[in-house]
Amino acid sequence: MEVAKKRNGFASGLGFILAAAGSAVGLGNLWGFPYKTGANGGAAFVFVYIICVLLMGSIALVAEMYLGRRAQANPVTAYKKANKNLGFVGVLVIIIPFLIICYYSVLGGWTFKFAVNSFQPIQDAANNGTNFFSSFSSNAFEPVFYTLVFLLIAGVIIMAGVKGGIEKASKVLMPMLFILLVAVAIYCLCLGDGVLQGLNFYLNPDFSKLGFDGVLAAMGQAFYSLSLGMGIMVSYGSYTDNKIKIGKSIAMIAVFDTLVALIGGLAIFSAVGALQPELLGTGNLGGVTLMYMVLPKIFGQMGGIGQLVSFFFFAMVVIAALTSVISLLEVATQFVIQKFKIPRKKATIILGIVCFIVSIPIAWSVGGAFNGAINLFGFDLLTFLDEMTNTILMPMGALFSCLAIGWCVGDYKNFKQRINPLHTYRELSKDGLDIGWFGKIFAFMVKYVGPLLILFIEIFGIIGKVNDNGVSYWWVIIFSAILIIASVIVYFVFFKNANTGCNADELDIAEKAIKE
Ligand code: PHE
Repeated sequence: MEVAKKRNGFASGLGFILAAAGSAVGLGNLWGFPYKTGANGGAAFVFVYIICVLLMGSIALVAEMYLGRRAQANPVTAYKKANKNLGFVGVLVIIIPFLIICYYSVLGGWTFKFAVNSFQPIQDAANNGTNFFSSFSSNAFEPVFYTLVFLLIAGVIIMAGVKGGIEKASKVLMPMLFILLVAVAIYCLCLGDGVLQGLNFYLNPDFSKLGFDGVLAAMGQAFYSLSLGMGIMVSYGSYTDNKIKIGKSIAMIAVFDTLVALIGGLAIFSAVGALQPELLGTGNLGGVTLMYMVLPKIFGQMGGIGQLVSFFFFAMVVIAALTSVISLLEVATQFVIQKFKIPRKKATIILGIVCFIVSIPIAWSVGGAFNGAINLFGFDLLTFLDEMTNTILMPMGALFSCLAIGWCVGDYKNFKQRINPLHTYRELSKDGLDIGWFGKIFAFMVKYVGPLLILFIEIFGIIGKVNDNGVSYWWVIIFSAILIIASVIVYFVFFKNANTGCNADELDIAEKAIKE
């Protein structure tokens, strides 16, 4: 039986919450959320986003954490334990983070460079932010170097294990992140007259700008921001035992994640409103532009203190990105350790090297090295991967998580029982999911509302994307479909009837390594 004798996992509830929050809070909050809010109707977007978090995000979050906890194992084993034929979802949700790391670390590397650079040519950046950015990003060597640095830091922390590495790092880094964020936000909110104009752009509700694209963006953003649909919360959940309350944990994680995104936006748009108001509403505030061109320029305009603000800001983004990449890399690492019985250090090194190699062309593609020669069907590689993961694969992963918990866990003797959420509630409670009265609502949501909403938004959203982007978007869909099919094949051929390992295995592997 795959039951942990000694436990391999988080030592404390707080450590777990901080690690999961560390995964959730990342570039998505500080880089994605603010500009998407600005572009999609301000508070209207925030409103829909919060609804998505409540109706789909937190439901899928409970489902995934619980899936991991009951399995005490990597995602493949976890989905397999819910239903033998669902194990392919485990394979899919291990591949997704892997793809994400490869572009995420490139952005992490850029951010690292900007943090380091805060005290130097900020004057330069003030006059020539754009030039500085483009000469850095299109350089064939530097961005690759910083990607490597970033991956190395994440790798070293993962090598130290769940308790000794991930948990410890999160306990130090997350409070630091929050302090930096609040400090930067307070400073930016006090920048004077233009602040209100910036905040007005950021938060003034305009439902006419939202549209269906906006709703899809809000849903994608909610999943992305909560790190759902990619095995992460399954993996982190597997490192907890039932002393850690799932209900309380997810409430804290979801609230913290949303709060950081909102405060991040406050800081960024106050600064833009005060120092670059002419940019508001020009459509020139896309993700990369805003973070790596506009903000450095603004920090440059702040005078001497701008250097410090720049350092605080970018250091905070580095921390956010780092704790997220750690979680992304942990999923694949956990699986490789458990399935192939390889010690943690070795597994991390192998996976880190593969990620680094894949991220090189991505760095060149996003930064426009070699005159932008590297792209796929007109998309740079980051955008292509981001569309694949964010818009298609992650909602799919979250959908399957809902189906796994809502329809597969428990004992159902007949059709009537199977469609009855109250029966599911009782089955889940018997199975060990203790979320009190919320369990009844949860059972209904996870069975019906979550999956149907995801499916609905997904289908109409993709139709909209195809209409907007034309034929090239079909390639995003085709590549996503290929990935799903590949996961199915790999699972049924190699993993379905094989032992895919569990958390306790890592302890055995470590013990064996010591004896040898
Ligand atoms: N949730 C993180 C963010 O908001 C990103 C992330 C995505 C982390 C996927 C892990 C997995 O940036």
